Amino acid sequence: MDATLQRALASAVERLLHGGVAEARLTAEVLLAHAIGRERVYLFAHPEETLTPEAARIFRRALGERLSGRPTQYITGSQEFYGRSFRVTPDVLIPRPETEHQVETVMRRQPRARRIADIGCGSGAIGISLALERPAYDLTLTDISPAALRVARENAATLGANARFLCCDLGAAFAPAAFDAVVSNPPYIPIEAREGLPREVRDHEPHVALFGAGQGNGIYRRLIADAERILRPGGLLSFEIGYQDLEAVHPMFGPDWRFIEANQDLAGWPRVLSAFFHPGGAGL
Ligand SMILES: C[S@@+](CC[C@H](N)C(=O)[O-])C[C@H]1O[C@@H](n2cnc3c(N)ncnc32)[C@H](O)[C@@H]1O
Repeated sequence: MDATLQRALASAVERLLHGGVAEARLTAEVLLAHAIGRERVYLFAHPEETLTPEAARIFRRALGERLSGRPTQYITGSQEFYGRSFRVTPDVLIPRPETEHQVETVMRRQPRARRIADIGCGSGAIGISLALERPAYDLTLTDISPAALRVARENAATLGANARFLCCDLGAAFAPAAFDAVVSNPPYIPIEAREGLPREVRDHEPHVALFGAGQGNGIYRRLIADAERILRPGGLLSFEIGYQDLEAVHPMFGPDWRFIEANQDLAGWPRVLSAFFHPGGAGL
């Protein structure tokens, strides 16, 4: 007998639970919806519908991949960020909800900025969201990974965002004072923490996006130094920090940085550090 959506879902939840997959029910729903090419809500409206053999095959394969540790988003190829669907591949980090605070921080603290750089753009989640939320912003997205930049370009085209793309090491390619704001979610996990990461992250997300070639905390120092060169006086730097990084990173802002803010994510961790660059008090 062919399985109905309801029965396929129930047995998938059981397999995922048994396989130790977190959020088994949600995962099963997302993968089943993906297999039949519908939104999740369709599953609840049509529980008695029968799975086609092709959909059943796709669902079986997706479940197998998820049970082997592959993140759901790399199986479905998408992740929602700031209310939009971004394509994700194993070449880019899966954008996290806490990173949405970067979009809010730039819009709140530098509403009249024009030239903005998103450094280490990955899928383009931050920069593309800013370009779409505030069309007056002029976005340049950079990454050291050409493969990630290809995904970001594709997302910009699909979502209808105007932006420039550039492959370079942090801000190395830019002229002095080129930007009114620099935003970044840099790779900040220390390489020593690798073994403690969930296998979905450790074995599947790009290491250049997680560990930044083993730079750990050092990446913040380099990012701040680059920002001091490429921001105009009065420009804003906003970046994401690891949940325990505030104490180590805050002192990296020298005397030319003013109005430093550390903001929490929804879980209560200090997650966003932002500050204005006023060299020698200029622009105050
Ligand atoms: C944590 S991921 C963030 C991706 C995306 N901004 C997001 O929040 O989902 C860090 C990104 O920085 C890029 N990256 C690593 N080292 C870099 C460097 N030295 N210069 C520029 N980009 C770098 C990685 O390729 C990766 O795409």
